[in-house]
Amino acid sequence: MALRFEASCPEGFCPGWSITVKGQPAVSAKSFEINFLCDMDDRIAFHFNPRFSDLDIICNTFKSNRWGKEERSNTFHFDAEEPFQVEIFSDRSHFHVFVDENKVVQYQHRIEDLQAITRVQIVNDISITSVEIAKKPDY
Ligand code: GAL
Repeated sequence: MALRFEASCPEGFCPGWSITVKGQPAVSAKSFEINFLCDMDDRIAFHFNPRFSDLDIICNTFKSNRWGKEERSNTFHFDAEEPFQVEIFSDRSHFHVFVDENKVVQYQHRIEDLQAITRVQIVNDISITSVEIAKKPDY
C-alpha cells in the first residue's frame, strides 16, 4: 500500500465534513482508494476504491475483522492521466460521492458511532494535486 495523503480530525469527519481531492490516476493505474478510518480501532467506515481493471468503483466497510458486502458502481469517470475531482461528504445517513460534480455513489453508513471516524487516507495509483477539507454549514 502506497500512502499518498493522510489527515486526521480528533472530533471526527462525519457528519458534515467534505473532502475534495483533485488529482489524476497514475500511468497504468490499477486502483486507488480513499478510506475513512476509525483511529481507535481497525475499522474502515468507508472504503472508496475505483478499479481500472474492472472499470468499477467498489465501496465497502471493514469491521469486526472482515469486509462486508461490496456495493459497486459502474459510473466510472476515471481515465489514466486525466485530471479529475472527487468530493466526498457525509450527512447523518450516507456518504455522498461526486466525481467531476456527477453523483456516482450514495453509501449508507454501516457504523453507528460516526464521531469515531477521525482519519482520511488516500492510497495507491493516484497523483494528488490538492486536497481540500472543509466543514459544511449546518453541522
Ligand atoms: C478486497 C481487497 C480489499 C478491498 C475489498 C473491498 O478484495 O483486497 O483491498 O478492496 O476487497 O471489498
